[in-house]
Amino acid sequence: MTVDLKAAEFTFQGLRPIPVAVTTVHGGRANGLMSLSGGPAGIVPEAPRVTVSITKYNFSHDLILQGGVFAMHVLSNDPDLLPTSLDILMALGGSSGRDGDKLDGLEIKHGATGVPILLGALSYVEARVTGSLDNDENTIFVGDVIAAERLNKGRKLDIGEAWAKLPPEWIERYEHNHHAQLEHCRGARGLGSTQEVS
Ligand SMILES: Cc1cc2nc3c(=O)[nH]c(=O)nc-3n(C[C@H](O)[C@H](O)[C@H](O)COP(=O)(O)O)c2cc1C
Repeated sequence: MTVDLKAAEFTFQGLRPIPVAVTTVHGGRANGLMSLSGGPAGIVPEAPRVTVSITKYNFSHDLILQGGVFAMHVLSNDPDLLPTSLDILMALGGSSGRDGDKLDGLEIKHGATGVPILLGALSYVEARVTGSLDNDENTIFVGDVIAAERLNKGRKLDIGEAWAKLPPEWIERYEHNHHAQLEHCRGARGLGSTQEVS
């Protein structure tokens, strides 16, 4: 069976427009990354759950798997906060915590579980992992929300708005990193290395 990859790409495109900053801690090591996979994971309003999908290539993956805690933040598009939002996105989404402390320079406090809370974010939920699904290339985590807070003013920054304002040299570095990540994911699924959608 041949899959119409263009139709698949079209179906997925734009479904998750809000980037989230996911932070975590394990064994005294705190870290974070950006993700476009954040969302609610249940419908019970008095007992909210959250889900994120984290690629195994990323350092944060191992910390969440081992530590079992994470916080998921949304960023603000308010003009006063936009520079901070872009700083968070570039700091967490542009390099790996394996190469240095990416939280250094970001304003944080510690949540109930010890996870770093990004004070420059619009709001966040903090969670303890209740379940995880191993998908070879990534793990989908689900957690019980144990704390949540609105921190700043504004509306949620979407990825289109953010991408239009990010420096081209940062985007270039991100794409380079993304390519390495993609190859790792293909390897983890036993796929060849040149499966571009054309
Ligand atoms: C907009 C955006 C969305 C991303 N979405 C995801 C995602 O859903 N899952 C994931 O594992 N990484 C995602 N990434 C990539 C990680 O944020 C990036 O690889 C990061 O450098 C990993 O850092 P770490 O190794 O310190 O965990 C995204 C990055 C950006 C900028």
